Amino acid sequence: MFPKNGLRESIPVNRKNDMKFFVDTAEISEIAELNDLGMVDGVTTNPSLILKSGRNILEVTKEICDLVEGPVSAEVVSLKSDEMIAEGRKLAAIAENIAVKVPLTWDGLKTCKTLTDDGFKVNVTLCFSTNQALLAAKAGAAFISPFVGRLDDINIDGMDLIAEIRQIYDNYAFETEILVASIRTVNHITQSAIIGADVVTVPPAILKKLIHHPLTDKGLEGFMKDWAKTGQKIL
Ligand code: E4P
Repeated sequence: MFPKNGLRESIPVNRKNDMKFFVDTAEISEIAELNDLGMVDGVTTNPSLILKSGRNILEVTKEICDLVEGPVSAEVVSLKSDEMIAEGRKLAAIAENIAVKVPLTWDGLKTCKTLTDDGFKVNVTLCFSTNQALLAAKAGAAFISPFVGRLDDINIDGMDLIAEIRQIYDNYAFETEILVASIRTVNHITQSAIIGADVVTVPPAILKKLIHHPLTDKGLEGFMKDWAKTGQKIL
């Protein structure tokens, strides 16, 4: 579609009404600030983000769920499905908008199927291949989380994976939403939108960078100078 710009071909089959912005943090103040701007459709956390917050997982997750209407991903930490299922049920009991996050292992997929059958939303995380994404969709995942930044880190273009998953899911009308994770740059967000990913989960600092353009700053400065010269007031 945009080959001359080096962008991937993409013709989303199922046009969506909205591209969802989740914030990738467990810091309440950061979530609240962006939520007040209407930029938060959901939140993702993981064990590393819980560590960074210094908070108790059950307490901080409850606070996030009280603040944000959309899905809040909370990750299980066991490796065996029986324990993952028990943890998932405990996390899901925190609030109605919890999405239980499970790793892309056979135990994780078994947990996904069980919790999905129970009526819970499941986010399958640590996805690095199209076949893994296919398995997650077959297990009934509400969300698949491919990690684009971590692929870029090992010289594999993470956005290629998003385009391939989009194509595969659209080929079969899988309803699993593509939640682009491990976002490191604003370009990851642009390309996710061009490809037609359903959701991006973004660290707050990167989300705030989306607004920057030097011509906006320069233009505003010019308008303010000219307005001052008019000597007028609106209020
Ligand atoms: C979110 O769901 C993921 O856990 C997160 O985006 C991973 O990001 P990282 O690769 O920067 O740790």
